[in-house]
Formats: sequence, structure tokens, C-alpha cells
Amino acid sequence: MESRWRDANVGSLRIRVNGTERTVQAEPDTTLLSALRDQLGLTGTKYGCGEGQCGACTVLIDGKARRSCLTPATSVASAEIVTIEGLESKGEGGANGHLHPVQQAFLDEGAFQCAYCTSGMILAAVSFLREHPHPTDDEIVRGMNGNICRCGTYPRIVAAVRRAATHSGRGEESRSQYRDSSSPSAPQNDMSGGAAAVMKVLDGQG
Ligand code: FES
Ligand code: FES
Repeated sequence: MESRWRDANVGSLRIRVNGTERTVQAEPDTTLLSALRDQLGLTGTKYGCGEGQCGACTVLIDGKARRSCLTPATSVASAEIVTIEGLESKGEGGANGHLHPVQQAFLDEGAFQCAYCTSGMILAAVSFLREHPHPTDDEIVRGMNGNICRCGTYPRIVAAVRRAATHSGRGEESRSQYRDSSSPSAPQNDMSGGAAAVMKVLDGQG
């Protein structure tokens, strides 16, 4: 890298994250992942490989799935960034506690184990389904292939993406069944293990 870049001063940068203008300190080599996690505390976006290979760091930039570990923060000053913390709402960006249908589908299908990959998977799926609203399973596999799940929950992830495509817009209906465990029709899922972990990720606490 040329010396003029190495000598560049750290500068304040305004970026728009989850519908809100935020200020971060950025050098030319500050990644968006670092700005989100280390400066804004949005730790739902995960550091996996740091080399663009695993997809754990996936966020939406202007609606498309992008690897935040490879994205310079200075390159997204005029973009709309959505992280997992901002997805839970009717319109991306203003969290209101209502899960996005893709988040709900991952819960409904139990599409996680340790959940480290889950926020990246969900954001990749949101981007994929925008372009493929009625995908075949083969298309889902191809579309999600760049995201790695080290726990190997791929069949459930495919099922979740399929469910989100089929039930898009019905997330609230199934969500309420999850929350009301006294309902006779409520699924009898054990939320104490992996599901609890994914709920933390979905809430940006993981
Ligand atoms: S951490 Fe960005 S692709 Fe792995
Ligand atoms: S990496 Fe553990 S659930 Fe995907």
C-alpha cells in the first residue's frame, strides 16, 4: 500500500445503519465489519474468516448481501446498511420487535446449531429471496452456497429459505404461536439450547 494511505489521518465518517445516521472513525483500511462491531456495538454481524470466504459478516448494503469484512467503511458513506439488528421490522431499518419473515422461518425450521453463521445466513437469504421470490431447492442451494455453516445445518437452512419464500408476510402469525406456548396449537420446540442462542443472535446480543 502506498505511503500516502498509511499516513492518512483517521477521520470521522457518517454512515447510515439500520435507518439511523451514525458517526464512526475510519481510516482507509477500516472495514465496515470493524466499524459495526467495534465502534457501533452491532455484534450480531460476525467475524469468521476475515477473507470473504465464509459469509458470517454478511450485511445488506443498498439491499444486497455484501461481505462487511471486505468492505471499506469509507466506501459506504452514501449507502443504506442493514444489519441483523435492523432487520426485525416491517420496513428494514427501524427495529420494532417484529421478526422479519426470514428470521421467523429460521426459528420455525430450527435452522441453526451454534448460530454463529445465522445472522449472515439470514441476510444472505433476504437478499437472495428478493431476486428469487419463488426459488427451487437447487436455486436456494446455489444462492446460499457462499455462506458456510460449520455445524452443517444446511438442510434446515434450505427448508427455512423455502419456508420464507412460501410464507412470506406470515411471520407474525407463526411468531405468535412460538411465543404463546400455552396454546394447544403451539409447536413444542425446546427454546433452551440452540434456539436460545439464535434468539440472542437475532437480538444482536450474540
Ligand atoms: S468474515 Fe467476512 S466472509 Fe468470513
Ligand atoms: S455455524 Fe453453527 S449453526 Fe451454522
